[in-house]
Amino acid sequence: MRYTISYVSTSNPNVSDIDITQLMDYVKTQNCLLNITGILIYSDGNFLQVLEGAKEVITTLFEKIKKDPRHYNIIKMLDKEISDTSFSDYHSSFTVISDHDGPIELQKFLKKEKLSNPEHFKSIQYLIQKFMKLL
Ligand SMILES: Cc1cc2nc3c(=O)[nH]c(=O)nc-3n(C[C@H](O)[C@H](O)[C@H](O)COP(=O)(O)O)c2cc1C
Repeated sequence: MRYTISYVSTSNPNVSDIDITQLMDYVKTQNCLLNITGILIYSDGNFLQVLEGAKEVITTLFEKIKKDPRHYNIIKMLDKEISDTSFSDYHSSFTVISDHDGPIELQKFLKKEKLSNPEHFKSIQYLIQKFMKLL
């Protein structure tokens, strides 16, 4: 079984755009190494992150993320097991999106998510749409 944790948070005002870009690059590289899939979206001073991977890896990482001074107001939204699929293992990549990226990357992520995690796709889509104020 894989595990997912999802949360929203607010970026610390003293974190610059450059810091955000560096964080996004770091997260993408690190999560691919750790076989973590999901997404980190930065929009209008807020983060939304969906982490999917081995339970131990995800819960340990979330404990670290919660203590990170680059953000605050961390509100956890999903914390549950998800079933393993061949897609999540073989197409493992972590998506990062910030204000400058158009909706294309987001659509790509949602398409991939529908294939790899059909049973929790609906909640993820709902959370992302609310977050991006698309509804
Ligand atoms: C909004 C946000 C999301 C983060 N997401 C991840 C992540 O998905 N993977 C990761 O390795 N670090 C992530 N980090 C960074 C971690 O908080 C932490 O700095 C990193 O794991 C290095 O920790 P260490 O130096 O104790 O090993 C995130 C930080 C923030 C502020």
